[in-house]
Amino acid sequence: MQTYIGIIGGSGLYEIDGLEGATWTTVDSPWGTPSDAILTGTLDGVKMAFLPRHGRGHVHSPSTVPYRANVDALKRLGVTDVISVSACGSFREEMAPGDFVIVDQFIDRTFAREKSFFGTGCVAHVSVAHPTCPRLGAACLTAGRDAGITVHETGTYLAMEGPQFSTLAESKMYRESWGCDVIGMTNMPEAKLAREAELCYASVAMITDYDSWHPDHGEVDVNEIIKTLMGNSEKAKGLVARLPKLLGADRAPCPHGCDRALDYAILTAPE
Ligand code: ADE
Repeated sequence: MQTYIGIIGGSGLYEIDGLEGATWTTVDSPWGTPSDAILTGTLDGVKMAFLPRHGRGHVHSPSTVPYRANVDALKRLGVTDVISVSACGSFREEMAPGDFVIVDQFIDRTFAREKSFFGTGCVAHVSVAHPTCPRLGAACLTAGRDAGITVHETGTYLAMEGPQFSTLAESKMYRESWGCDVIGMTNMPEAKLAREAELCYASVAMITDYDSWHPDHGEVDVNEIIKTLMGNSEKAKGLVARLPKLLGADRAPCPHGCDRALDYAILTAPE
C-alpha cells in the first residue's frame, strides 16, 4: 500500500511549502462541506494532502469546524495517515510556549459537536483507549527533533468546547486534579472520527501560552498567542517537511491496528 499523508493544520498553519504539483482540490462529502479545499501534491515521492482546519482566512470556530466532513474528505482522497497540527495552552512549567507536544491521550470535554459517523442505521463502538497512533507519533517526534524543535514525547490534552478560554478554577482543576498537560479546542472529536475512519492519527500540539493557572503569566491573551504562533508555524513547516522521508512511500499495515479499527466494532447485523 502507498503512504498518503494528510495534514490538518490549525491556527498558524494555513499552507505547507515545497509540494510538487500542488493543487487545491475540492472534495465533496455526504457529511457536509469540509473546512476548505484540500492542497494536494507530492513531497520526496510521497503523496500529501493539507487541509486548513479553520479554512483559509480562519472562518470556522472550534465549535463549527466540520470535523466529520474533514475526516471523510481525507479518507475519500485515499489518505492513510493524518497528522493534526494545532495550537494549545500548557499546564506544565517545563512545557513552555514555543515547545511542541506529541499528544497521546485526551480528556474530551466538548459537547456541541457531532462526534461519530455511526448512529441510526449502523451502530458501531470503536475503542479509543489509545486514541493516537504510536508509529505516527514517533515519526512526528523524530521529525520535530530533527527540525531543532523542543518536542515533548507524550502529553494528555484537555479538549474544551470554547470559544472562551478556561476560568482560573477550571485551569487549576485540569492541571492539578485531572493531570492534563495541555489544553486546546480542536482535537476532539477529530481523533475519534479518524479512528472510526480507520486512519492513523497523531497530534502535534504547539504550545502558545500557559493558559490561566501560571502565577507569573497573566490571563491568556490572543495577541500573545499570535506572536508565538508566528514562530510555531515556521517550526511546524520544518516538522511536516521531514515526515515523507521518515514514513516512506510504501506502507505496511499499521502495527497498532488503527487501519482495522472497525473489524470488531459494528453491532448492526449486515442486510
Ligand atoms: N489554544 C491555544 N491556547 C489555548 C488555551 N489556553 N486554551 C484553549 N485553547 C488554546
